[in-house]
Amino acid sequence: MVESFARLRAAAWPLAIGVILGGAAVLFAGPGLFWALVALALAAMLIIHFVSFQEPILRAPEQTVDDPLSALPPMTRVLLDQLPIPVMLLDDDERVLFVNRSMRDVLGPGLDRKRASSVLRNPDVLAAIAQARQGLSNNVPFSLPVPIERHYQAYAARISVSPSVTALLLHDLTVVKRSEQLRADFIANASHELRTPLAAVSGFIETLRGHAKEDEAVRGQFLDIMGVEAARMRRLIDDLLSLSRIEMNEHVKPEGRIGVESTVHQAVAALKPLAAQDGITITVEAKPGVPPVIGDQDELVQLFQNLIHNAIKYGREKGKVQVVIGQSADRQVFAAIHDDGEGIAPNAIPRLTERFYRVDVKRSREKGGTGLGLAIVKHIINRHQGRLSIESRLGEGSVFTVLLPAAPPENPAKTAVPEPVTEML
Ligand SMILES: Nc1ncnc2c1ncn2[C@@H]1O[C@H](COP(=O)(O)OP(=O)(O)OP(=O)(O)O)[C@@H](O)[C@H]1O
Ligand SMILES: [Mg+2]
Repeated sequence: MVESFARLRAAAWPLAIGVILGGAAVLFAGPGLFWALVALALAAMLIIHFVSFQEPILRAPEQTVDDPLSALPPMTRVLLDQLPIPVMLLDDDERVLFVNRSMRDVLGPGLDRKRASSVLRNPDVLAAIAQARQGLSNNVPFSLPVPIERHYQAYAARISVSPSVTALLLHDLTVVKRSEQLRADFIANASHELRTPLAAVSGFIETLRGHAKEDEAVRGQFLDIMGVEAARMRRLIDDLLSLSRIEMNEHVKPEGRIGVESTVHQAVAALKPLAAQDGITITVEAKPGVPPVIGDQDELVQLFQNLIHNAIKYGREKGKVQVVIGQSADRQVFAAIHDDGEGIAPNAIPRLTERFYRVDVKRSREKGGTGLGLAIVKHIINRHQGRLSIESRLGEGSVFTVLLPAAPPENPAKTAVPEPVTEML
């Protein structure tokens, strides 16, 4: 009732003006103009009633005292939610006001209105949030051990709105940490691999200086061993240099058009004497019509040498190594290296291309292996945008298949078309 009265009062002035204008129209221009004006006013009222004017989409909703988030325009909320950086906003009681999708991926669902201490459980991060509430922005490392170990840098800062909000952002450092760890492991492994033969050589030098000085037979024997150890160190250094060269070029696309069959034959020719020592025969079978690949000749020779060398080393004595070359249904050129050796346990297969990884360290060392051969293979394949597949059965043998994209057909030689002659007259 009170509301209706208020509405009537608000409309009083327009009504009074309408009545005066209507009276004047009847007085001066007759009833025709009066009814025309009435029709016009009715039409205007109908338009105002049925056409609702759109509110601006990004208008900030009015901020209420108990919900600081209401100050966030809807578009900002959507952006925050889609941000690939985990974000959490906390109120003055350190209760969760908002978490975006990335933060939910990190901490799990059901975080709303929970206390920071019950969802984060890390004293350093909680201390950083408490300090941020005092106006001291800071960052601390934060790790989550499960389900997969992840490492973050957590940034906490206070946002000046009223009432105030504390923001917590996580910067994912897992990949950086992992590559740091890999580099540290690599240096430790490389020094260890070099230290072992170096220690042997130093030991023999001492012995030769001491009691073996006059013993010719022992001297000859020791010098032979020192020669073997020195060769091992040289191989290791060569492999390390080759790995670093290939890694450096990994993002540079190779340019040559290389025939896989001739490359495999080149690798086999270099390894035949070694295979002959163990009575191993190597055969190469190439299917007809295999297209060339785009590649680097020297790197592809090294790739096949490493794989065929492994097939010889870990193959059966007097066994067979077979290389089959062909083209798969998806236009990939493949070269599969089969051996009839002892095979590889399934759990070891995913680790074979790691640097210095060896299934049987003693056996590999006895065979003069450095444990870098398959790491080099992986990098060469990466540079050639190919794939390596490994199949193995314990006691039966292994198949290492290299898949490389076939080179696109060469441009057909252009037939000589006479140039059009233009003469200026
Ligand atoms: N054909 C194979 N059959 C069985 N095991 C293999 C075969 N190829 C590789 N392996 C296993 O994988 C490990 C890693 O191979 P990789 O070629 O990287 O190193 P390596 O042969 O020991 O040394 P390098 O090749 O540097 O001289 C080997 O030590 C071996 O245990
Ligand atoms: Mg090898």
